[in-house]
Amino acid sequence: MRLLEERIQKEGKALSESVLKVDSFINHQVDPEFMEMLGKDFAEHFKDFGITKVFTIESSGIAPAMMVAKYLHVPMVILKKQTSKILNGNVYQTRITSFTKGTSYELTLFSDYISPDDRILLIDDFLANGEAATGASRLVEQSGAKLAGIGILIEKSFQNGRKRLEDAGYYVYSQARVSRLDAGVIEFLPEDEPTVAAQSE
Ligand code: G4P
Repeated sequence: MRLLEERIQKEGKALSESVLKVDSFINHQVDPEFMEMLGKDFAEHFKDFGITKVFTIESSGIAPAMMVAKYLHVPMVILKKQTSKILNGNVYQTRITSFTKGTSYELTLFSDYISPDDRILLIDDFLANGEAATGASRLVEQSGAKLAGIGILIEKSFQNGRKRLEDAGYYVYSQARVSRLDAGVIEFLPEDEPTVAAQSE
């Protein structure tokens, strides 16, 4: 998606060959109108997937996921990283270890907010090695529902997240696909290209 790529080029900072900082409009400060535009694009892309709920993982996925849910006219559910003491009743849980952040947490979903006939769209800001999205897919499957699609704002195509999700049978749509990062360099993959990780196999 050209507008997202342009914004990343203008405001993003490649901190290393693997980490892209986009704090000015996604991860710290959030641009609501821009999020609304991204949300509309996801909603248009997934309009025929029969989506009944939009899921996201706290925290940076919440803003775009909210907009997608608004335009698909379905609820948004936030998968929690901490088990709340007030979350009484049955929960689905799975442990996630992020390679990127070096952290671990129990991803948690209260069972009232999913049912076996749901078709879930997962929205998240970044796709790196796909630990978070794979964990979310485990929660959806535990409930008997279907993960009908995954929408990502920024895919780092040189890492293996997309391949992992596609190999597991999931459909992934990424609005911007970063093929290379380096000091002062941010390069993108055209939308219909295979991933860099897939190409190098
Ligand atoms: P992983 O398997 O390598 O851990 O990657 P995954 O795709 O699961 O991403 C793990 C977390 O790291 C996610 O944050 C993701 O947004 C963040 N992340 C990955 N690569 C980058 C990057 O290049 N830049 C930035 N800014 N973030 C990145 P999260 O756990 O969902 O937390 P939150 O940031 O949404 O609160």
